[in-house]
Amino acid sequence: MSDHQDSLAASTWLPLLTTRYMGRGQAEVLQEATSTNTLLKQMALSGAPAGSLCLCESQTAGKGRLGRIWHSPAGQGLWLSVLLRPRIQPEQAPLVTLCAALAMAQAVNETTGLDARIKWPNDLVLEGKKLCGILLEIGFAASGIDYIVVGTGLNVGRSAYPAELAHQATSIADHMTPPPRRELLVRYLAALEETITRLENDGFAALAEAYRARSCTLGSMVKVSGSEEFTGVAEDIDETGGLLVRDQTSVLRRVLAGDVSVRGVMGYV
Ligand code: BTN
Repeated sequence: MSDHQDSLAASTWLPLLTTRYMGRGQAEVLQEATSTNTLLKQMALSGAPAGSLCLCESQTAGKGRLGRIWHSPAGQGLWLSVLLRPRIQPEQAPLVTLCAALAMAQAVNETTGLDARIKWPNDLVLEGKKLCGILLEIGFAASGIDYIVVGTGLNVGRSAYPAELAHQATSIADHMTPPPRRELLVRYLAALEETITRLENDGFAALAEAYRARSCTLGSMVKVSGSEEFTGVAEDIDETGGLLVRDQTSVLRRVLAGDVSVRGVMGYV
């Protein structure tokens, strides 16, 4: 696909938007950024409205979870951050990660037919390898949540991954000729607006069934590492986004943070 056909210029996707507000605030579309999350946080602090976004062709300091660098080569992904100012309680903030994961899984599936699955809490995987990562950055005000920046890094094109990622990462181009990125963007924004609106109105219960259908974690054997280490079967998500795991003594344990490996996914056998 030529650069022109895969342009992310706002003029190519704004007319395709089906949303009420998502993608319709301020839009910063850049050739190169340090990190779209960092730039959008600055826009949030300057008063940008919900639905604003920042996206770019390449990031020089893309941020991953746990202080890691996010590999963001030019033209090979959807390096995108979206600004939310959701009407939810601070303790519900982790649920926004699940909303974004569900929205991106739906967008990938609707656009490509590929069976992207959600690895709790914030990865999308395809045939056991990571396709997309999600990084939330939250700003609080005295009254509660001021803003949430939802950053998504979706691998779309062909690129050489760093050696340490090669066996764990995948991209849409590893499976098919990728669609123009604006199609993924427009579907993601529509799905994100829907999942966030449902969360605001009815809580996670309104999304649980759709989430379960796209999850590769629920119903699977998982290994929990961190302060406590155990294995068990992931049974459910609770109302604040915690994972409920039945351990080998049949006790149901709630996992909030920490690393969860899912059998058969990203190298865990
Ligand atoms: C992870 O570690 O899995 C999360 C990766 C999130 C990467 C995206 S790319 C767009 C946005 N800007 C960043 O600096 N990070 C997120």
